[in-house]
Amino acid sequence: MGELVSIILAAGHGTRMKSAVPKVLHRAAGRPLVHYPVAAALAAGSSRIVVVANEQTLAPIRASLEAELPGVPLAFAIQPVPRGTGDAARVGLEAVDLAPSARVLILAGDTPLLVGDDLAPLVGRLDEGDALAFLSFFPSSAKGYGRVLRDETGRVLEIREDRDLRNDAERAVGEVNAGVYASTAGLLRDCLSRLRPENAQGEFYLTDVVAMARSTGPVSTVVADETALLGVNHRGELARAEGILFARNRERYAREGATIVGAPLIDTGVELGIDVTIEDGVRLRGRTKIGAGSFVDVGCVLVDAIVGEKSHIKPYTVVTESEVGSDVHLGPFSHLRPGSRIEDEAHLGNFVETKNTRVRRGAKANHLAYLGDADVGEKSNIGAGTIFCNYDGFGKSKTVIGKGAFIGSDSQLVAPVTIGDGAYVATGTTVTMDVPADALAIGRTRQTNKEGYASVLRQRLRAQAAAKKAK
Ligand code: UD1
Ligand code: MG
Repeated sequence: MGELVSIILAAGHGTRMKSAVPKVLHRAAGRPLVHYPVAAALAAGSSRIVVVANEQTLAPIRASLEAELPGVPLAFAIQPVPRGTGDAARVGLEAVDLAPSARVLILAGDTPLLVGDDLAPLVGRLDEGDALAFLSFFPSSAKGYGRVLRDETGRVLEIREDRDLRNDAERAVGEVNAGVYASTAGLLRDCLSRLRPENAQGEFYLTDVVAMARSTGPVSTVVADETALLGVNHRGELARAEGILFARNRERYAREGATIVGAPLIDTGVELGIDVTIEDGVRLRGRTKIGAGSFVDVGCVLVDAIVGEKSHIKPYTVVTESEVGSDVHLGPFSHLRPGSRIEDEAHLGNFVETKNTRVRRGAKANHLAYLGDADVGEKSNIGAGTIFCNYDGFGKSKTVIGKGAFIGSDSQLVAPVTIGDGAYVATGTTVTMDVPADALAIGRTRQTNKEGYASVLRQRLRAQAAAKKAK
């Protein structure tokens, strides 16, 4: 058994997507489409993967794969003109140095539902001595697909493209080619060099290799599930494929020990610990990780967020590129913007926004506050309506609050400013100077009470209103 290499064909123009973005870089469940066949090829045991793209799409496809799948042994090849799947496969094969006995899987870049388990039986057929094996399936309508034509004993004769079918008997064949093949480098190199574009589309058909391979050895099919082979050609199919990926992800996380309620949308690649609960309408994106026993309630959106254990994220909280510790309470309606680090046992309540801010262990900001560019000490308490004034229209400045400090409601902390350990800021203070440890800062005008003046004031205001009306 030789090395196993996969070739992913993705040089088509994808015009039906009506998009400036290459088709295979459209995302489904958080990942560009082309990442799925790459992952499937890896799972099937490929030691190298060649991606065939065109001149315009190669650079962005390469950048996306290298950034998001670092360490995967990838090679790239350009098919300058889309002269057909056979030409694309030849270009891919030429991009790697392979012994004739090397086993080669060929798949398309736009079939995100295919997984390693769908490919393994094809590789198994090669190991049993077949010259070539490919996936077939029985769609509800065979129109548009290449048909698998067999002799009277059931042996595969050829794949004939829809536009090249010769008669109604051929059109009536329900078994079609899925476009996923396994063979050896030697056989493919030989057959691909002999292809001729003598067909309705004037293209080099990879499918013609099937009839040619019969002279070398047995050719067989592995029947696959139609769902696994859903190809994405337009955005309707993209939406359908993504819906299936989300459903698969829910099922997988549930089997791995999370409680999934309703239909949260969880990206491929998110990590959930055991006994995590994800409620309906939650959206978990990117590299989000949630530790054991944490609860994410309805409507939360977490993007590249890391959450510890047993934290409770209440409804409609948004967390982006931030870290949340264990036993933390967030929300409802908290907003953690990038660079927030909320440590164990901290609480952030409704309408609290943080940005580039560390909230240390056990600190609390339970209502309506903005904490930007700050470091809030352990067990400090930030009162309702507090604003950290971190921006003067030009630059950002830092607010540092020590341990166990108390910031009274409706205070403004004008950064840069430091509040010492255990200091106390009186309600309604505008803090413009540092506050030493254990000091009380109070910065508001003294209240005066005018006895009996309320009714005098009311009378005056009533008279003013009446005079205005009379005008
Ligand atoms: C192909 C098969 C057909 C099969 C169907 C399954 C051929 C001739 N036909 O048809 O039997 O039923 O898939 O979906 O292979 N590509 C290139 N360069 C090209 C042409 C295509 O890289 O010059 C890539 C495309 O980007 C795509 C894949 O090859 O990822 C398949 O090409 P596509 O044009 O979709 O093939 P079909 O006409 O659907
Ligand atoms: Mg085509």
